[in-house]
Formats: sequence, structure tokens, C-alpha cells
Amino acid sequence: MTTNNDYRSPLILVTGGGGYVGSHTVLALQQAGFQVLILDSLERGHRDLVEAVLKTELIVGDIGDRPLLDWIFQTYPVTAVMHFAAYIEVGESVRYPDRFYQNNVHGALTLLQAMVAAKIPYFVFSSTAAVYGLPPEVPIQETCPCAPMNPYGRSKWMVEQMVGDLGSAYGLKSVIFRYFNAAGADPHSRLGEDHHPETHLIPLVLQAAMGRRPHVVIYGTDYPTADGTCIRDYIHVVDLAQAHVLGLKYLLSGGDSEVFNLGNGQGFSVRQIIETAQRVTRCSIPVLEGDRREGDPAVLIANSDRARRVLGWQPQYPDIEQIIQHAWLWHQHRHGSARAEE
Ligand SMILES: NC(=O)c1ccc[n+]([C@@H]2O[C@H](COP(=O)([O-])OP(=O)(O)OC[C@H]3O[C@@H](n4cnc5c(N)ncnc54)[C@H](O)[C@@H]3O)[C@@H](O)[C@H]2O)c1
Repeated sequence: MTTNNDYRSPLILVTGGGGYVGSHTVLALQQAGFQVLILDSLERGHRDLVEAVLKTELIVGDIGDRPLLDWIFQTYPVTAVMHFAAYIEVGESVRYPDRFYQNNVHGALTLLQAMVAAKIPYFVFSSTAAVYGLPPEVPIQETCPCAPMNPYGRSKWMVEQMVGDLGSAYGLKSVIFRYFNAAGADPHSRLGEDHHPETHLIPLVLQAAMGRRPHVVIYGTDYPTADGTCIRDYIHVVDLAQAHVLGLKYLLSGGDSEVFNLGNGQGFSVRQIIETAQRVTRCSIPVLEGDRREGDPAVLIANSDRARRVLGWQPQYPDIEQIIQHAWLWHQHRHGSARAEE
């Protein structure tokens, strides 16, 4: 690895920059004039997208590797860290909770300790609506008590608390973003969602539309919602990325540590997503109706007024049809014509 010492604008270390939300954020940071260094193990990320689209320095390594982190902070003039690297799949977290606490919690602690030692003052963290568990009311505000219901959500909530405590003890300034359902793709199809295995509804629906999977399963049709299926708040990944740029600028201009929800404030049921996807793709999408999954709340909708008010965040792509359209264009670009799911 050679280092380019010509850093004329702030250099941001992005962990997990080879993944879905991280890669879109790297692009947004570059467009906003920041320089970016990516640290990603590539266990779940995409080297080809980093090399072909983002064209920035990539260090392949683990956030839990303290000597590597110390070397990075001694070698590069890092101004702030954006931390996306984590395991994200709820079901996997129930089967292997130890892996989630090791990667998401211990990894984050190692990163935070290295930052404190290197006196890097700014931290932007990807948290999740899963920290709320079954919220007592919707739309959910940041003041809603956190009661995560699975190891994934708990791992994120633990990191949020660590970040707060390290802020009090060492002056670390942080922005914590609690995303609702990230969806969509770069409107020019340069980047998009490509998880293996995929568990998110919109890509699953689009895979079924392409014939890459035989059907989509609806988990629960007897929820107390208009059509009996779960309602979620889908936020375009480009709008998430933009919030990160605003959150970073907020910290760099002296803002206090803060937690922000990121969602559209509008909910769509599973059936509405499938119907919209059928309209967008003009493909029929076979559906299987299954039982509820344990711990799935009926309705999750964000109140993101704080991000709008404090950061001036304004989602550019709130329309669900456009979100699905961008995801569809990306899926076709990435996976070509219909084929069976490997
Ligand atoms: N996708 C969503 O809907 C969503 C919703 C809420 C919160 N989040 C959070 O956003 C973040 C990004 O999610 P995503 O969907 O982009 O996930 P992703 O799996 O696409 O990206 C995560 C990236 O982190 C890397 N990584 C994982 N562990 C690592 C480690 N120990 N060291 C270095 N790199 C490591 C992976 O290789 C991958 O490239 C996660 O922290 C997730 O919890 C995502």
C-alpha cells in the first residue's frame, strides 16, 4: 500500500466502505469534496465496486485489528471516522450472537480505543431502528426508550452507549444515525444493494421478479394493519448517504454529539411493496404466505424531524416507486438477465 500524502481536504476513514450503505456514502463524501480511505475486510463487501466506482484507497483489514488501526492513524491524517462495518442480519444474530458481539461490539470498541489514542475527535456511527424493539408509539422519536429484541439490535445499542460514555470521558464527538429500512440504489446504477445472503424485502422481491428466486415469502398476514402485513419506513440509500455528509459537516463545525433517526416518515406494507414492484418491473411476483417471525413489530415508522431541523436534511427520493425503480435498474445492471439464484 502506498500512501498519498497530498491531502488538501479532510480525510475520512470509512469502515465498511465496500458495503451497501458505506459505498454510497463514500461516493457522497467524494462529491462533497472530502477524501476517503476505506477499511473493509471485504467479508461482505465488494472490491470491484470500490475499484471501479469509488477509486479510492482501500485497506483490506479488520476493525478489530488494533495494530492495523494504530498504523492507519499514524500513517494517514484522518480527521473523522464513519463506522459502517458490522454484521447486519437479524436471523444470523439470533443463531450466532457471539459473532455479533465480537464483530459489532468488540470491533467498535477497538476502533474507538484506537481513535481516542490517536486523538481523532469525530465519529459517525450507523445504528438502526432495531434499537427501539417494539416501540410504544409510532412515528418513533429519538426519545423513545431503547429496548432491542435481538442480538443485532442489542449489539448496536451497546455501541451507542459506549460511544456516549467515551464522549463523556474523552471528549469524542459523535453523530449516531438510526436508519430505518435502507433501500434503493445509486440512480445511475453505479452502486447498489448486493448482500449474500439477501434478507431485505425490496431486493428479495426484485430477485423474484427476475426469476432469481421462485417466490417471496410474506411473514405474517394477520397483523393489525390495513392489509394484515407489516409496515416499514423505506429510506433511499442516497438520502442516507447525504445525511452522513451533513452529520460530518455538523461535527466539523462544532456541533454537539447527537442521535438522529433517518426515515421518510411514511410506511408501506409488505403487500404494497410487492404491488409497487410489480408495477415498476412489469413482472409478476409469486408470493407465499408464511407465519409471523418472532419479534417483528407490526409498524415501524420514523419521525426524522430532528435530522431535518438540526442538519437541514431533506430526503431527495422519498417516493417509494422511485426507490424501487432505482433498485430495479441496479439489479438488472448487476445481475443481467433472469437466472436462478445461486
Ligand atoms: N442496510 C440496512 O437496511 C441497514 C439498516 C439499519 C442499519 N444499518 C447499518 O448500516 C451499516 C451498513 O449496513 P450495510 O447494509 O451497508 O451492510 P453491508 O454488509 O453491505 O456492509 C458492511 C460492510 O462492513 C464490512 N465489515 C463487516 N465486518 C467488518 C470488520 N470486522 N472489519 C472490516 N470490515 C467489516 C463488510 O465486509 C461490508 O463491506 C451496518 O452497520 C448496519 O448495521 C443498515
